[in-house]
Amino acid sequence: MNRVTVVTHPLVQHKLTLMRRKDASSNSFRRLLGELSTLMAYEVTRDMPLQDMPIETPLEAMTGKVIDGKKLVFVSILRAGNGFLDGMLNVVPGARVGHVGLYRDPATLQAVEYYFKMPSGMDARDVVVVDPMLATGNSAAACVDRIKRLDPRSIKFVCLLAAPEGIHRLHKAHPDVPIFTAAIDRELNDHGYILPGLGDAGDRIFGTK
Ligand code: URA
Repeated sequence: MNRVTVVTHPLVQHKLTLMRRKDASSNSFRRLLGELSTLMAYEVTRDMPLQDMPIETPLEAMTGKVIDGKKLVFVSILRAGNGFLDGMLNVVPGARVGHVGLYRDPATLQAVEYYFKMPSGMDARDVVVVDPMLATGNSAAACVDRIKRLDPRSIKFVCLLAAPEGIHRLHKAHPDVPIFTAAIDRELNDHGYILPGLGDAGDRIFGTK
């Protein structure tokens, strides 16, 4: 079973509630998403390996601990995933970034890949897939499928909102991938939107409709 971590920190919950409001402007939605994703990055990177670094303080030599940000890859599922990236990069500026573009085939409802670009050396890297909404879970599962072919050291999935259906789908396909979310909502509607949700994350981030 995937580990599902719901990040219940009061700052996360507060910002999420403000984002859900239908009268939140695109500007404030984007700002809140940036702040929230920074807080989510804090949780997702909690178990990142540290390495020793010899340094000198003004008083003496010591061995400090540092993370190797270059080993980490944030993979954004286009396009809403991009709204998550900046906040994550704020705290891990050395991370690399990959992008996956997927659309839903209207006939089969399956995720079809139209773009895939990853940094080199994926087999030595830890991957964090970012997408604000884990709805049906089809895109998340397809994205993880594709990344697994590159044999990375680890994969995690981070979102803002998850539907039970999406968690179930991702779990069934990839039980080894831990999921981090700010909330698990009630259900999906017939159009694949999360209820109560926050609407179309991409439209709200980019001000499209
Ligand atoms: N994608 C969104 O942007 N919103 C949802 O509710 C579901 C999928």
